[in-house]
Amino acid sequence: MDNRPIGVFDSGLGGLTAVKEITSLLPGESVIYFGDTGRVPYGTRSRQTILQYTREAIAFLKFQGVKRILVACGTASTVLEEAAVDAGLPVTGVITAACRKAVMATKNQKIGLIATARSIRSGLYEKNIATLLPGTQVESMACPLLVPVIENGRIGIDDPVTKILVSEYLAPIKAQGVDTLILGCTHYPIIRDIIQAEMGPDVTLVDAGAAAASELREALRESGTLSPSPRGELKFFVSDIPEGFATVGSVFLGRSIGERVEKVSIQHYVK
Ligand code: DGL
Repeated sequence: MDNRPIGVFDSGLGGLTAVKEITSLLPGESVIYFGDTGRVPYGTRSRQTILQYTREAIAFLKFQGVKRILVACGTASTVLEEAAVDAGLPVTGVITAACRKAVMATKNQKIGLIATARSIRSGLYEKNIATLLPGTQVESMACPLLVPVIENGRIGIDDPVTKILVSEYLAPIKAQGVDTLILGCTHYPIIRDIIQAEMGPDVTLVDAGAAAASELREALRESGTLSPSPRGELKFFVSDIPEGFATVGSVFLGRSIGERVEKVSIQHYVK
C-alpha cells in the first residue's frame, strides 16, 4: 500500500484522458497533474526540445513526491527511454500500451494511427506493432492542427472546423479499410465522438491514455503500491494559465477543476 499520488504529465489537456480513466478504474488514487500549457503544442517541435521539456516535467513531479509517473502524452513518450534514465522512480508512457490494445482489437491486421508529427516520425508505433503482431499493416497520419483546435475548446460534436479537419486527416486511413484506429495523441479522445462518426461504428478506437491507465492499474497491483484510501484527490499544475484549461478540462472530466489549478515555473526543477 502506498498513498502517495500518481504524477501525470502532458503538454496540455490531453493527459486528462488518462486522468479520467484513472479516476474511474482507481478512485482511491490521488493524482498530481502537470499540463505544459505555456509550451503546447509539443508535436511540431524538435526531439531535443521535447526531451528537455519531458525531463523538466519528470523532475517537477518527482519533487511533488509522487510514487510513479504516467507520461500521458504520446509525443513525450517517444523520448521516454532517454528522459527517464535517472528518474529514480517508475515512469511509463502510452505507446506500448496503445499498441498492445490495438493488436488485440484488430481482426484484419490493418491498423490506423493518428498522432502528432513528432510521434509519427519516431516510428515507434510501427516498431512496437511489428514486434507484437508481425505482418500488420499500419496506416499513419500526422494531424498537427488537431491539438490547437482542442486546446481552444472546439470539441463539440457538431463543430464545423474540427469536423472538416478530422474528415480530411482520416480520409486516407479510411480508404485502407482499417478496423482499428489508434488515437496516438492523448488529446484526440476529447473529440472521440467526431472521430468515431467519421470512421463509422465498426472501427475500434484505441485511446492511448486510457490503455496506459489500465496497464498502470496492473503495475500498482503487482508492486503492492495501490492506495489504501477510498477516495483520491486531484491537483493540477500548469506552466501558464490559459482561460481554456480549467473550462475545457472541467467539461471533459465532468467536474469543476478551476479552483484546483495552480501555475508553476517548470524550468526550476531540473538539476
Ligand atoms: N497530448 C499530446 C500527445 O499525446 C499532444 C502533443 C502536442 O502538444 O502536440 O502527443
